[in-house]
Amino acid sequence: MTQDAVTAYWSARAPQFDGVASHVAQREIWREVLEAAFEAEGPKDVVDLGTGTGACALIAASLGHRVTGYDGSQGMLTVARAAARAAHLDVAFETAVIDEAAIAPASADIVTLRNVLWTLERPMDGLLQAHRILRSGGMVLVSDGLWSVAPQYRSTYQPELAACLPLHDGLTETLARQMLTDAGFGEALSWQHLFATPPYPGGVPMFVLTARRT
Ligand SMILES: C[S@@+](CC[C@H](N)C(=O)[O-])C[C@H]1O[C@@H](n2cnc3c(N)ncnc32)[C@H](O)[C@@H]1O
Repeated sequence: MTQDAVTAYWSARAPQFDGVASHVAQREIWREVLEAAFEAEGPKDVVDLGTGTGACALIAASLGHRVTGYDGSQGMLTVARAAARAAHLDVAFETAVIDEAAIAPASADIVTLRNVLWTLERPMDGLLQAHRILRSGGMVLVSDGLWSVAPQYRSTYQPELAACLPLHDGLTETLARQMLTDAGFGEALSWQHLFATPPYPGGVPMFVLTARRT
């Protein structure tokens, strides 16, 4: 029920999403940050969970990685597929909610979740899914923010839906680090210092963390 409402919300927003998302306008700096954070030597198998319009997935593909993006919203994936075609990038996009995505265990080198944990009914399950599908030594990259502090970034979910999402107000780096530890990942590294200016105006505390599956 909650997931259906989340998915419907994003499908409705999909056609306009890339026009308002600041990370699309700031694609180049995100590309630099993700390239550094991935610490990858050579092409890797990358899974982007909650890929949306594929912004992260496309960046990973542009860095030479083999990428699959998963999202519950067909509408978001329609935009993502068009963006991949326009950029001449080969990215696979699959419709699936994170918990139910049929991804083989230990099949990914890098799993990304950008601005997704805040909108999950069970955020820890997202991290546990990442842990399950990563190879030993593989890396999860999590980025999110404390969205409630800036009016322009607060979600417009209906209050009843928002109340079902434990991280609806957003999350801090400290909480994300604890969640990564609880999900079984090793020590987390932060990368948000690589942004010369804050990527989300309005004073939103945000983080980019990576941690490895030991
Ligand atoms: C704020 S958007 C972020 C999209 C993308 N990661 C980015 O950085 O632009 C959140 C996305 O998560 C997706 N989503 C929410 N819950 C999901 C779930 N349980 N499984 C898969 N996708 C989900 C939504 O459909 C939406 O596309």
